[in-house]
Amino acid sequence: MQFHNNKDKIIIIDFGSQVTKLIARRIRDFGVYSEIITPNNFFKLKDYKNIKGIIFSGGPSTVTKNNFQSVPKEILKKKIPILGICYGLQLIAKLCGGKIKPSKKRREFGRALLYKKRSSLLTKNFFNSSKTVWMSHEDAVIRIPKKFKMIASTKDSKLTIIENTNDKIYGVQFHPEVTHTQNGNQIFKNFLFLICKMKKKWNVASQKNRLINEVKEIVKKEKVICALSGGVDSSVVALLINKAIKKNLICIMVDTGLMRKDEFKYTFKIFKKKYKLNVKLIDASKIFLKKLKNISNPEKKRKIIGNLFIKVFEKESKKYNNIKFLAQGTLYPDIIESRSASGSKTSKIKSHHNVGGLPKKMNLKLLEPLKEFFKDEVRILGKSLGLTKEINFKHPFPGPGLGIRIIGNITPQKIKILQEADNIYIKELIKNNLYNKIWQAYAALLPIKTVGVMGDARTYESICLLRAVISEDGMTADYFSFPKYFLDKISNKIVNNVKGINRVVYDITSKPPSTIELE
Ligand code: XMP
Repeated sequence: MQFHNNKDKIIIIDFGSQVTKLIARRIRDFGVYSEIITPNNFFKLKDYKNIKGIIFSGGPSTVTKNNFQSVPKEILKKKIPILGICYGLQLIAKLCGGKIKPSKKRREFGRALLYKKRSSLLTKNFFNSSKTVWMSHEDAVIRIPKKFKMIASTKDSKLTIIENTNDKIYGVQFHPEVTHTQNGNQIFKNFLFLICKMKKKWNVASQKNRLINEVKEIVKKEKVICALSGGVDSSVVALLINKAIKKNLICIMVDTGLMRKDEFKYTFKIFKKKYKLNVKLIDASKIFLKKLKNISNPEKKRKIIGNLFIKVFEKESKKYNNIKFLAQGTLYPDIIESRSASGSKTSKIKSHHNVGGLPKKMNLKLLEPLKEFFKDEVRILGKSLGLTKEINFKHPFPGPGLGIRIIGNITPQKIKILQEADNIYIKELIKNNLYNKIWQAYAALLPIKTVGVMGDARTYESICLLRAVISEDGMTADYFSFPKYFLDKISNKIVNNVKGINRVVYDITSKPPSTIELE
């Protein structure tokens, strides 16, 4: 799928690297529109109109075997600027007659020192502040193709940057898109603005009117239904569609009873009063609690919650006549992952999270106005639609909610205890200006009791676990380093104010090997 057929763009051919998404994000951050395409779809393109530059991503394939992922060879002669990264460089070398060797012994992984050999447009202002780059490869180009020049090398790979200015083809063996490469952005800037001669024209906020008009055109006088969770994606979808079709958008908020303290009712009010949405709040907490009684297996919990959610939503939607469309907050990464070139593991990990995947058999057409955007871009749209900061910058919250943060069986009393602790934690993060530095934070309740002493009495109560991580997109994550004063304060406050908790612990594992949620 391609968007914007008439817009000048940079195309990234995805050979399956885990960081391809980052390349597209960096480029869009520079104000240049970019799209990711699979090698197969690239072969199917009828013309290269509007493609002003092409990036070949890295990937797990190897050009040293007979079967390797490739591109139509003619593309190298079109004088459309090309930048190959890692596997991309090896592919260029292979297609242009160079020699590549698998070199198990001289495998380069991690940081490497870069030596400049020659000046190039691609490396203008790059070497001023960059000496180290991030490498991750086994194969290496050992003979440079004809008409190419060597620009830089490392100790273990002589041909780390190569170029053929006549055909506008460039290759780098390292990964300029990861933060471990110093000044990597300069490589992209040079490629985009000096080599591809792109102008800064991509501005997400200015897409708002186009999106609203598109929704109007597609939906006409029909009705659209939307499951609104109060998270960023569904909120932006709802505001956008509401601007287009007003009351013909019906939003349904299903309260599972497993939400943060007071949050759901509060967001409902905002949507109803401030944004005047046609929104209905369904309190389904009793039935959720009933079905979850005595269930402690996390997978069972997820299934019960997911299925019940769909049932409640379906039952509600049947009360309305003539609904033709179902609006969903699908984002660009969802699309990229579901068609990933390598069928990477990350896409699988995510799919089981999609309790938001609403019934396909409802016979409704999907309306996914955010499918060309990254999360950060959705937030820019949210801002231009007037979405409150509180919702626009809210941390991700899982569909099964507190249901998977109460480890073991779920009771109303445990929900109450966790809601209180979580509420104190999140409020303190906001008060101490930490909330926006963290990608996701939450409190969980562990199923073990420990002894404590309060006043003169002995207590025997639950452990509350706090989690806070920094991350790019939730696929990998690192725990957040809190200052000691904050940990002291938060542990005191929770133990002093929440009856049922007498011990607070902080989770210091990263993902991998751990994950963000506990269950
Ligand atoms: P993990 O625990 O896999 O979480 O590192 C990654 C991201 O996904 C969220 N998550 C979920 N979201 N339903 C959802 O809608 C789920 O069942 C679910 N499980 C995890 C998690 O909060 C984090 O943002």
